Amino acid sequence: MKHGVSAFLVAIAVGGVASILLPFLVSGYVDGNRQSASPSYVTSGKCSASQMSFLAGAKEYFGIYPASVRQPIAFPHKIHVKNGMPCETCHAGVDEGQQAAIPGAAVCMTCHQVIATNKPEIKKLASYYRKGEEVPWRRVYWFYPSAHVDFWHGPHIRAGVECQSCHGDMRKETVAVRKAGLNMGFCVNCHRSRHVSTDCTTCHY
Ligand code: HEC
Ligand code: HEC
Ligand code: HEC
Ligand code: HEC
Ligand code: HEC
Repeated sequence: MKHGVSAFLVAIAVGGVASILLPFLVSGYVDGNRQSASPSYVTSGKCSASQMSFLAGAKEYFGIYPASVRQPIAFPHKIHVKNGMPCETCHAGVDEGQQAAIPGAAVCMTCHQVIATNKPEIKKLASYYRKGEEVPWRRVYWFYPSAHVDFWHGPHIRAGVECQSCHGDMRKETVAVRKAGLNMGFCVNCHRSRHVSTDCTTCHY
């Protein structure tokens, strides 16, 4: 259950927090970088100076998370979900392990080679793809490493907890916005009511 711990400690040992921001490319999918020390969801390995700023440090100290981030492409969740795509088509593996993957550009292009190719946002997508780059999506949901929270999707999805309980109704969203404050009370309240363990080590490492 504690795979994340060693990865985190190794990353710190190797070269500080910046080294955690590496791309995770797994068979066409880009894994979310769970232990990202920056407020961004960086899948491309790029990290701008502002993301590691003093302000970011202050936000971490006070446990403040931004509600929304500016994404490189205005990805409309509602259009895709309305067209009948289950969340798991894109967020593969969410029911199995720790993370929900973010689809790589190649996955998007299976449709967008032919669909809506003249739209500006699709041209941006195609341009990343042509250059062999991933879309540098920025992360919306994450925890500061100092909170030492070890969250796993798998057990929740398998126990029938809906995405909506923690992420709001994504069928109505364009890009994701941090709707629910995923603070300790939020987690513990549900665990208590569902008779799930509330030992500190269930969630913390
Ligand atoms: C299964 C097919 C499919 C996949 C996979 C897919 N899309 Fe789409 N996408 C669509 C359809 C259908 C539309 C609606 C097109 C329309 O309204 O003309 C759409 C619309 C869009 C739009 C809005 C275009 C506009 O301005 O009207 C964007 C942006 C977009 N997709 C991005 C993406 C991205 C990024 C991915 C990968 C994460 C992706 N799509 C994966 C089918 C798909
Ligand atoms: C019990 C609450 C909960 C439920 C239910 C849940 N999530 Fe999450 N999700 C989170 C938390 C917490 C994070 C941030 C995890 C982290 O940074 O360690 C997250 C992160 C994500 C991410 C970013 C990548 C990652 O895995 O870190 C995606 C994508 C995502 N969730 C999609 C989904 C989808 C799709 C579903 C439903 C199939 C779902 N989630 C259900 C709490 C939840
Ligand atoms: C066509 C592919 C596609 C489908 C279908 C899809 N998503 Fe996403 N999802 C994305 C992309 C691309 C992003 C990154 C942009 C963003 O943050 O909105 C994303 C981001 C997210 C995030 C924020 C991840 C983070 O950075 O923390 C959550 C939560 C999420 N999706 C939940 C869902 C849920 C719930 C569903 C089903 C109702 C769903 N998604 C369906 C492609 C998809
Ligand atoms: C809406 C209810 C709900 C919320 C909110 C929720 N959980 Fe859970 N959690 C569950 C359920 C149900 C299980 C599954 C227990 C099982 O497998 O029997 C679970 C299991 C877990 C497990 C695995 C426990 C084990 O013994 O295997 C961890 C770790 C966990 N949750 C952490 C969190 C964290 C961290 C948060 C807040 C970000 C959170 N949960 C929010 C309902 C919830
Ligand atoms: C069900 C999951 C869960 C359980 C059980 C849990 N916590 Fe937490 N805890 C969290 C989450 C989520 C946060 C918020 C992280 C954030 O928002 O940065 C948190 C935050 C904290 C923080 C503040 C850390 C910081 O600086 O952000 C402390 C201290 C803490 N927990 C201690 C405990 C102790 C002690 C216990 C046992 C009595 C415990 N937790 C049990 C999920 C849990």
